Amino acid sequence: MIEQIELKNFRNLENYSIKLQKPLVIIEGLNGVGKTSILEAIYFTATTKSHRTSQEKDIIQYQKEFAFVKLKQNQQIHEIVLTPNGKRTWINKHEIRKISDYIGKFHVVMFSPEDLMLIKGGPSERRYFMDMELMQVSKEYLRALNTYKRILKQRNLLLKKISIDDDYTFLNIISEQLYQVGCIIYDEREKFIQQLNLKLSHLKTTYQLDISLHYEPHMNKDQWLKYLKTKQKQDILHQTSYAGIHKDDFKVLYNGLNAKDNASQGTIRLIVIELKLALLEWIKEHTQQDAVLLLDDVLSELDLERQKIFLEKLSKKHQIIISSALHIESSADLQKIVLTKEKDVYAK
Ligand SMILES: Nc1ncnc2c1ncn2[C@@H]1O[C@H](COP(=O)(O)OP(=O)(O)OP(=O)(O)O)[C@@H](O)[C@H]1O
Ligand SMILES: [Mg+2]
Repeated sequence: MIEQIELKNFRNLENYSIKLQKPLVIIEGLNGVGKTSILEAIYFTATTKSHRTSQEKDIIQYQKEFAFVKLKQNQQIHEIVLTPNGKRTWINKHEIRKISDYIGKFHVVMFSPEDLMLIKGGPSERRYFMDMELMQVSKEYLRALNTYKRILKQRNLLLKKISIDDDYTFLNIISEQLYQVGCIIYDEREKFIQQLNLKLSHLKTTYQLDISLHYEPHMNKDQWLKYLKTKQKQDILHQTSYAGIHKDDFKVLYNGLNAKDNASQGTIRLIVIELKLALLEWIKEHTQQDAVLLLDDVLSELDLERQKIFLEKLSKKHQIIISSALHIESSADLQKIVLTKEKDVYAK
């Protein structure tokens, strides 16, 4: 459980600190006061990434040189300093130089409006989703992914240099390396999608919700290997690696139809929520840890009746932090944090 958060120059939050005392926390406040930024900061501390931008330096408050987050969870202190040149990480005051040694210590699952792109967006959004989740629970996956990216870059550089009449020996060696490490990623992604699918299948009987996922590799492994061994000319001609796990995707089916083209806005929201709940279970299975669930503005989109159902459906085991621009009734079992325009914060 996250017990304390401290932020400096994190977006509009210049100096912000809060203690979390209950498993259910609601961050309430007007538009633009920094609710999403607090959730972003928690996500950032767990993953070293932002859920809403790939331009991490955007997080740093305007005119400031760095952003800082400190988070205490289960007696562990995590700290990150972000500057335009990069980031440094500490756990319990010891600097962790390799990001791969830093991440995966505690787990979060975020649901934010951006996540609807998981269904509506392109394949890269879904690949990013698979990668982010898998790398948080598997160091082997993270290593494989980094190696794959490095070899792919090397291969693409070579493709720009050589011509069709050249000797392919070096290209073939690189291709073989790409394939070997690519297969690790392929297998892990395939397994991940299958395992999430199992978790989604119960919805059919309990809620008459028929949601299923299908891994869609760009090519299967045999086709890919064959391509690498026989179609070098094509890649040289186009100066880029046409085939590989960097083109993977997965399909989300709702009642047997592709949700991307068929599901309504509300249904897409529902599917993504269920996907995230399935993810919580999956993380538990693989890490024996209960991930913290971060819900950005999810409740504002639901009517009161649905809000109640949703909150009841959430497992009581997880710490849940919700942001909302709407007023939510206070109750004994939730902690409410009201953010005000003056960046002044008080907890009720
Ligand atoms: N780098 C930055 N430096 C300073 N302020 C920033 C920076 N990036 C964003 N902001 C501002 O921070 C404020 C808080 O944004 P945030 O998205 O956290 O608000 P919010 O409370 O979630 O609002 P909403 O209810 O509209 O979702 C916004 O006014 C935004 O313009
Ligand atoms: Mg927001």
